[in-house]
Amino acid sequence: MIRKIGLVSALALTTALGGCAAMTATGSETLIPPHPVPAIAPVDYVRDIHSYALPGIARVTHVALDLAADFAAMTLSGTAALDVTAEPGANEIVLDVRNLDIQDVRDAAGNPLQFETGPDDPILGQPLTIRFPAFAPGERRRIVVRYSTRPDAAALQWLTPAQTAGGQKPFLFSQGQAILTRTWVPTQDSPGIRQTWDARITAPSDLRVAMSAEALGGGEPAGPGQTAWRFRMTNPVPPYLIALGVGDLAFQAIDERTGVWTEPSMLRAAHDELVPTAEMVDVAERLYGPYRWGRYDILVLPPSFPFGGMENPRLTFATPTIIAGDRSLVSLVAHELAHSWSGNLVTNATWSDFWLNEGFTVYFENRIMEQLYGRERALMLQSLGWGDLQSTLADLPAADTKLKIDLAGRDPDEGLTDVAYEKGAAFLRTIERIVGRERFDAWLKGYFDRNAFRPMTTERFLEDIRAHLVTTPELERQLMMDAWIYQPGMPSNWVPPVSDAFVPVDAAARAFFADKGPASAIPWSGWSTQERQRFLAWRPDGLRPGADWLTAAQLADLEATLNLRQEGNAEVVFSWLQIAVAHRYQPAVPTLEKFLTTMGRRKFVLPLFTSLWAEGDWGRPIATRIYARARPGYHPVTTNSVDAVVGRP
Ligand code: BES
Ligand code: ZN
Repeated sequence: MIRKIGLVSALALTTALGGCAAMTATGSETLIPPHPVPAIAPVDYVRDIHSYALPGIARVTHVALDLAADFAAMTLSGTAALDVTAEPGANEIVLDVRNLDIQDVRDAAGNPLQFETGPDDPILGQPLTIRFPAFAPGERRRIVVRYSTRPDAAALQWLTPAQTAGGQKPFLFSQGQAILTRTWVPTQDSPGIRQTWDARITAPSDLRVAMSAEALGGGEPAGPGQTAWRFRMTNPVPPYLIALGVGDLAFQAIDERTGVWTEPSMLRAAHDELVPTAEMVDVAERLYGPYRWGRYDILVLPPSFPFGGMENPRLTFATPTIIAGDRSLVSLVAHELAHSWSGNLVTNATWSDFWLNEGFTVYFENRIMEQLYGRERALMLQSLGWGDLQSTLADLPAADTKLKIDLAGRDPDEGLTDVAYEKGAAFLRTIERIVGRERFDAWLKGYFDRNAFRPMTTERFLEDIRAHLVTTPELERQLMMDAWIYQPGMPSNWVPPVSDAFVPVDAAARAFFADKGPASAIPWSGWSTQERQRFLAWRPDGLRPGADWLTAAQLADLEATLNLRQEGNAEVVFSWLQIAVAHRYQPAVPTLEKFLTTMGRRKFVLPLFTSLWAEGDWGRPIATRIYARARPGYHPVTTNSVDAVVGRP
């Protein structure tokens, strides 16, 4: 199974995992031989409040999916065969499921097993408890769950042809993070319970299937008009990283190990935009050690993809809104790529430790950007992040501004704030500043190596850094690590980033916004996207919610002079629309409506609907009207959030 990537590390890893069982060409009724259990030391499972699983008693080590995608019924149906290990004497295993139709559960010989689903929690779904004869020491068994997803599975979006770039063929994609994989795969859906997996996915023959795993050959005929595609992930991963895309997909290589998948009509633009990806992988490896996943490809999805990017292993999923035409938004690729170390290799053990995934990744992302585009661009990006963080810190309850947050009774999505991302990265930059980059990098590389393919808690992170980097009382005192993690807000040793490039931008912003100068004096055409974002993020000191800072004449001047109705960069459009909505600026409503009905990225959609809603009798009717049109095109991740603001139409 040696992959054609010529990477010593990948070969070494394959060997370490004991090679791979040969995959036999099996139909849906035949069982695939059990997968070898990876040679990774046993982990101490910590309690994950967002999973029903009891891995200390029985755990899933491998998932083998055999599913057919039915676009008319909007279902995936078939089997999930799970390899299970358990403590001696254990006679049941608990899985996570949500909104699944379970037909039956059988053992490897095909004998039915007893199973039961527990009470349905709106966030967690249900426990699926499967009973079997008591386990003997060291035993491993396979159980097979036959099931179907429902059309409203929260992880899945079934797109009509009209919702795609090509307009001719349907599309399906999944989004697993944080706890949505259980809506399409019955398994132990906790980031601390890693599983290898393989899949055979059957779809209409005019579509192509892509997954976050190694593709095994081309498709095989699977009945009239149907083709089956096979995949294998031999590195153990948390289930939130199992991902699927089905559609009219084409591929273009960037270099030997990187490339772009997307609809044919998007391929050229997507490829050209993402050319820097190849170099990013090289830079990332030079920083923190080998890329351990073989290929690194990017799947550019239809515009309803609810996130900017998702770090699905070997196949980052990305929004088409990063295809700006000038590579100005490629830091998103650096981010998702960095997750191949921070997140996919060393994984937050629970969603309360989410900052370990995102804070480390934002730090790493910025190091890639610095290496590739220079210190100034990296500082601009840091500075934009710092600006976002300041408003987040002002808005959130203090308890949610701690890095390790309490999510008891809450959806893990509530931890998805700039605190995990930007405060997390700021913490690491503080350590870097105090210990020096060289020592910090040596520690971070070691941290990834020591903890590869393992879950990480905030407490174990502290143990690791205290054992390997922060070894003196003096350093301990200077770093204030406990304050960063367990106290709200920003500790006193934080030094905000200063971008010299933003000095003239801020001056231009004051001249226009505060001193009421003409928009023609703004040196807009000479600015990068980051400088434009900085300009549009300007707000007067002490701005009260609901207060205006511009006149209608200034808004009209800005819109016309900067040509904002024709603007194609989604980040710039978003920043402008935030200003427009806050001022109830009616002439921008068509731009707003177009933006919200042609893309479903939650980071853009949710704040705009929230701002509209805050504008009461002006904004609410607009929000309701636009949402009625836009909602059918959004992914459940986005509708769930917007429903809570605007209500279901
Ligand atoms: N892993 C996240 C996306 C995510 C987090 C999905 C939590 C579901 C739950 C991804 O890496 C991410 O952070 N995406 C960002 C872009 C990034 C450049 C900050 C996004 O989607 O905006
Ligand atoms: Zn991320």
